[in-house]
Amino acid sequence: MGDTNNIDARSFIAAQDFILSVKTYWTTKLYPQLDRNAPIEKVKQTVDYQFFAWLERHLQRYKYSGRYGIHRFQNQFREEIIENFSDNEILILDKELNLPYYYTSVDIHQHPGGLWSDDIAGTVYERGARSTTPLGTTNHQDLHHRLTTIATPQYNPSKILDMACGFGKSTQPFYNAFPDADVVGIDLSAPCLQLAAHFAKQNQVSNVNYRQANAEHTPFKNDEFNLITSTMLLHELPPKNIKSVFAEAHRVLAPGGKMVHLDFYLVPDKFDRFIHLGHSKRNNEPFMVSFIKMDIKQILETQGFKNISIEPFEEAEGTLALDYNSWRFPWTIISAEK
Ligand SMILES: C[S@@+](CC[C@H](N)C(=O)[O-])C[C@H]1O[C@@H](n2cnc3c(N)ncnc32)[C@H](O)[C@@H]1O
Repeated sequence: MGDTNNIDARSFIAAQDFILSVKTYWTTKLYPQLDRNAPIEKVKQTVDYQFFAWLERHLQRYKYSGRYGIHRFQNQFREEIIENFSDNEILILDKELNLPYYYTSVDIHQHPGGLWSDDIAGTVYERGARSTTPLGTTNHQDLHHRLTTIATPQYNPSKILDMACGFGKSTQPFYNAFPDADVVGIDLSAPCLQLAAHFAKQNQVSNVNYRQANAEHTPFKNDEFNLITSTMLLHELPPKNIKSVFAEAHRVLAPGGKMVHLDFYLVPDKFDRFIHLGHSKRNNEPFMVSFIKMDIKQILETQGFKNISIEPFEEAEGTLALDYNSWRFPWTIISAEK
């Protein structure tokens, strides 16, 4: 162990690996012990459920905050991280952008200061995202790639918008899969966009640009894109703002263009709903609850979208099988055409 201010890499990695292995136990062993056929009020009183809920809240807290937390570890490299971000010609930041209240009033995912208030937030988020959903099946990393192939069969878009691109994890499979397309990633978070642009520059990618913008009001022209996508955006927004995102997507989508959102929406089972709403509270994601209650199909119809489809999404091989019994998000693909 180093001195009390610095955390050496070995201790940090050991602590994060420990957190990840407990999270894997939580996902694959503790969750199946909950009795999904018992009345919810009874489940709530069991030690297994209380332990499950406690671990869900506090593993995430330990991951980001505290002595071996990601924030404290990365903070030691603050100057180097910021240095990497200077002068990136594929990034446009908007210093005048008003960040919406739903974005600034909660430390989303228990990320200290949210994704917007600290220059190193993108780097901290990137490290945290590596261990968000350990699955009891194949590697989770292919989720974004699976979306790219599933969302765009026999489809060859020339201009793609990734709304809420974060640090570019959801944009990357699109710019790789469509090297001739012009790809744009937007997000509210300057630190995330800086990291996204840094990764693209490091990999000498020439078909992507990033821009700081609100997905509700983008700076783009009418009919500019033929594919618009988002991954894990909608559940972070209140209903009114989700409607604005759809309306904005409709405006900037070319006639015949397609919009695809991957999010957490279809939760028909009572027990799954109980677990999901608990996750919303325990992980500081308050708008998950209102999102799953919205009639998205009807909203999209009213806004003029066609060929609307809302389907469960298999984020990794086997997770939609009936006998799959580990905790997972209710992944759903919402797609529609203009
Ligand atoms: C859970 S992250 C997902 C990031 C990325 N799509 C991925 O899959 O890794 C949600 C992202 O939405 C962004 N965000 C939230 N509200 C937004 C809005 N109104 N406009 C643009 N981005 C927004 C956040 O800054 C964050 O980067």
